Amino acid sequence: MDEIIIEIRKNGSIKIPGPIKIVDEEGNETILEKDRISLCRCGASKNKPFCDSTHRTIGFEGPAATISLIQKERSE
Ligand code: FES
Repeated sequence: MDEIIIEIRKNGSIKIPGPIKIVDEEGNETILEKDRISLCRCGASKNKPFCDSTHRTIGFEGPAATISLIQKERSE
């Protein structure tokens, strides 16, 4: 069983493990081969859905947390 950890940074972004595939609203796919990706949760990034560190300049505040996604084994 694989466990995927999502880290919500105190006063900051959401860190997810990569690589990831992003599909935009028109169905275009982009693969990011990075080990970790930062997603914006403050809403102020100029590069959404990614964090561009604007949260630091706007004084965004939010608690830290860790989320574990646990993959269920599928019976086929
Ligand atoms: S969380 Fe970093 S710019 Fe929004």
